Amino acid sequence: MVMNEHPLLRFITCGSVDDGKSTLIGRLLHDTDSLTDDQRGDTGAPPDFAALLDGLEDERTQGITIDVAYRQFATPARRFIVADCPGHEQYTRNMATGASTADLAVVLVDARKGLLPQTLRHTAIVAMFGVRRVVLAVNKMDAVEWSCEVFERIVSGYRDHLRRLHAELSFEAIPLSGLAGDNVVEASSQMTWYSGPTLLRALEDAEIAPPSASAAFRMPVQWMNRLSDVRCYVGTIAAGVIRTGDHVRVEPAGTEAKITHVYGLDREIESAVQGDAVTLMLDRELDVARGDVLCDADVPAPASDQFSTRVLWMDGEPLLPGRSYTMQIGTRSVRATLTTLKHRLDVESGAHLSATQLRMNEIGTCEWHLDQPVAFEAFADNRELGGFILVDRHSNATAGAGVIDFALRRSGNLHWQALQVNRDARARIKGHQGRCIWLTGLSGAGKSTIADAVEAQLNLRGVHTYLLDGDNVRHGLNRDLGFTAADRVENIRRVAEVARLMVDAGLVVLVSFISPFRAEREMARELFAPGEFLEVFVDTPLAVAESRDPKGLYAKARAGKLPNFTGIDSPYEPPEHPELHLDTGRQSVAESARAILDLLD
Ligand code: ADX
Repeated sequence: MVMNEHPLLRFITCGSVDDGKSTLIGRLLHDTDSLTDDQRGDTGAPPDFAALLDGLEDERTQGITIDVAYRQFATPARRFIVADCPGHEQYTRNMATGASTADLAVVLVDARKGLLPQTLRHTAIVAMFGVRRVVLAVNKMDAVEWSCEVFERIVSGYRDHLRRLHAELSFEAIPLSGLAGDNVVEASSQMTWYSGPTLLRALEDAEIAPPSASAAFRMPVQWMNRLSDVRCYVGTIAAGVIRTGDHVRVEPAGTEAKITHVYGLDREIESAVQGDAVTLMLDRELDVARGDVLCDADVPAPASDQFSTRVLWMDGEPLLPGRSYTMQIGTRSVRATLTTLKHRLDVESGAHLSATQLRMNEIGTCEWHLDQPVAFEAFADNRELGGFILVDRHSNATAGAGVIDFALRRSGNLHWQALQVNRDARARIKGHQGRCIWLTGLSGAGKSTIADAVEAQLNLRGVHTYLLDGDNVRHGLNRDLGFTAADRVENIRRVAEVARLMVDAGLVVLVSFISPFRAEREMARELFAPGEFLEVFVDTPLAVAESRDPKGLYAKARAGKLPNFTGIDSPYEPPEHPELHLDTGRQSVAESARAILDLLD
């Protein structure tokens, strides 16, 4: 029989460091005679087991950069691909990657240590990323004298845990020893009290959900191509079947066309199914872009710009409400802002805790607003169209991964109201356009003094202005906010929205806020048309600001009486490309104000 005709099971191994993952995988490869030529070495004979393990460990240490090592092996019954993920706490990102394509997870527990926080965290993560079946491998049974009691205690603890987690996971538990080989491939003669399957048998017997034949056709467009001068769409089918003559609808645009040709890798084919990479030719030219989804015209995918999701956060910088990230979903990248952090999951108790931020390795329920609608499916229905990753817009690092649970209905019920008087009409009767001058810098840098001087000059010239000052706005609109990172993000989000409304009204708005974070200043900039937003860095060395200390706040902060003070124990991220850079250590207030007025002119 050809290898490829065997059913394929994808699984992932997880558990704490030292639970014995490598040994177990080594054992599976070794005892099923599935070693690669490299692993076998020059002689072609299987290496001694210990030597093999050293080799696998080395490979995986390098594997940290390639994230996950995928290993293949086969038995007469089945082919397997196992994602071997490092177990160190900070490597949950690799696990999320591995879990999102896995049918099953082997969760390892060291029989001597029992269930550890990491065991529970990894279980929550694989459940979140769509794994529905767990094999709890209670390893190192040789080290607990093959004790049935120890095994049963661990199994019942795990069962209780799954109940608390409300995870839709079925599981079976196997007592084994990766090192001695008991119950991995060969049944153990040491544990006569256990009559269940070996690990390999459990893997061979695990049900593999077949791709749903009734699922409606979905294909995220990866790129466009031209064949005999006709535009074609290239992608991998995420669900369903496509045939020549089928009607498709482009989401979210809603335009429709008929399929005239389906091409496989090297030739025309009649039909293609989920997982196939295809090129599709339509009977007319449509406006289709990378990231659009071609759908069955009768059952199109829904589109929305607001979602309720679960997110696994993987970045050292916490996830903060109000902050924007790049969301990659299917083949589309959009800007997504975290509108609400509903709660954080306590992976040990299953409880939903209130939270103001998500830290590394935490899971939370998050609501997002996207800057444009995207076609999607709930993750439970389709892993490709319902899963996403979040990218930090500054570092470009993958900062989180998540799953869509549902679109928020409010997004469909809100419409943009068209009005008769627009910004041009408002500007016309004022005799000038609106602008936003955004002053950022440390407390005591001179932002407010300079803004005040600029506004006085503009007022003399008959310019319609408004000055939004941090201290003042915090007395009203933002009086519910403090100085934690999360509160500062929200502080800036609100004032940026207010400034936008004022610019829309035709005013020249001066914003004088510390606004210490680049991400939020960028978010503010993106609310405006090009040229409308002018970032002014009011730059003063910390020592100078501190020596001025007009409000006595630096003294308090140094004395430990004012926590989270910018420059002392809360960061300030200087602008990288401000429209204007003032050095208030050298320039007088009048000079600084003049520089801003020149910039405006
Ligand atoms: S921001 O960081 O969120 O942009 P904002 O400009 O609104 O700050 O407010 C800063 C003002 O609040 C400062 O000028 C100072 O008077 C006062 N303040 C009180 N506590 C703090 C603090 N912990 N850090 C910075 N400023 C503080």
